[in-house]
Amino acid sequence: MSILFKPISLGSLQLENRFVHSATYEAMATEAGKVTSDLVERYRSLARGQVGLVIPGYLYVHPLGRSMKYQTGIHSDDMIPGLRKLVEAVHQEGGRIAFQLAHAGRQTKSAIIGQTPLGPSRKGRDPFFLVRPQKMTEAQICEVIQAFAAAAGRAVVAGVDGLQIHATHGYLVNQFLSPFFNDRADDWGGSEENRFRFLREIILAIRKVVPAGMPILVKLNVDEHTPKTGITPPLAVKYARWLCELGIDGLELSSGTLAYSFMNVYWGSVPVSALARTQPWYTRPLAHVMLRQLTGRFDDLEGFNLEATRSVKSAVKNVPVFAVGGLRRVSHMEGILSQGYADLISMSRPFVREPSLVKKIREGRTEAASCSSCNMCLAAIANDIPIRCYKNGLPHVDNNLNP
Ligand SMILES: Cc1cc2nc3c(=O)[nH]c(=O)nc-3n(C[C@H](O)[C@H](O)[C@H](O)COP(=O)(O)O)c2cc1C
Repeated sequence: MSILFKPISLGSLQLENRFVHSATYEAMATEAGKVTSDLVERYRSLARGQVGLVIPGYLYVHPLGRSMKYQTGIHSDDMIPGLRKLVEAVHQEGGRIAFQLAHAGRQTKSAIIGQTPLGPSRKGRDPFFLVRPQKMTEAQICEVIQAFAAAAGRAVVAGVDGLQIHATHGYLVNQFLSPFFNDRADDWGGSEENRFRFLREIILAIRKVVPAGMPILVKLNVDEHTPKTGITPPLAVKYARWLCELGIDGLELSSGTLAYSFMNVYWGSVPVSALARTQPWYTRPLAHVMLRQLTGRFDDLEGFNLEATRSVKSAVKNVPVFAVGGLRRVSHMEGILSQGYADLISMSRPFVREPSLVKKIREGRTEAASCSSCNMCLAAIANDIPIRCYKNGLPHVDNNLNP
């Protein structure tokens, strides 16, 4: 039997195989953040396709931490019945499901949250969200930590099997960890230990509300690729060690930030026009020019996070590590596991195109995912269009109707 189908445990959770559906925002919730039947069916089909662990798109834990119009919320008890349906659908198919808990911080817009977005520091105006954030007060920081814990409590009530803290791609937890985004001089910044404190407090607060053994996972940034020094692999190794000391049950290692280095999150083709149309009319021509400059630079995507993943894995031997990013060939995935680069294989875009990819691999019907990383699924959700494979182009939607 292939190593890809060898069971593994995360905390007290047993997984049947090594495949993970990496969190993928779907643009499928209602504008109030509630789960829809389309969302439930998406995850039912992934569980039916035998993915070992399904992680749906990031869930916002606080109204000010929402980043997209059709994002699912876990910020209030009203969300629980819908989230429970989602969990039940996955369980009915024999699957396992973890929720990714997130706060956008500065990576959102006032049009989405009704006020200036929050951040650890009032630094810069980024080229993507065009946001100069409001610096969070101590009280606001404590409120967000409690919001993560309350969200974890709701996830438990909904019946989930595990939790993942979204600490990458430039969202709020990543912002606190980052020497680029966080220039605070109080207890929440100024040193590596202080910048780590926000994530540490979130983990400790979550631990108090979840049953013993329920896996707490972290998706961490290994390389931010920000204009000035942010998180780099040596700092990620240090953070990973501290996370192990805190007893986390799994680490997924990704890179890039949406605000400053979004193609480092995904790699692949740059759908210039489809992405430019997400921008306001007055910055669209500039967006075209900037996006065109990126084309061709991210084509060679196979295992783009692997080197950094390997350095973290060798420093944290006892914690299961998820490799993610440009994993497409079955023999490559087997090599990653057998050579000890990582313990699980996490994928996003391949499952958008082929929800039954794992089943196909198990039955020996394919040697590689057929996803070409054209990034039209990404362009879709950026335009508030529900996710699916749009390899042949997006449906026409006048973006002005979806402010
Ligand atoms: C449409 C889309 C939505 C995504 N949403 C999330 C998300 O909600 N949370 C997250 O951590 N990563 C998100 N990602 C990043 C993926 O989880 C993954 O890290 C990245 O796409 C690289 O993996 P892949 O090459 O298998 O697609 C998203 C990616 C795509 C393409």
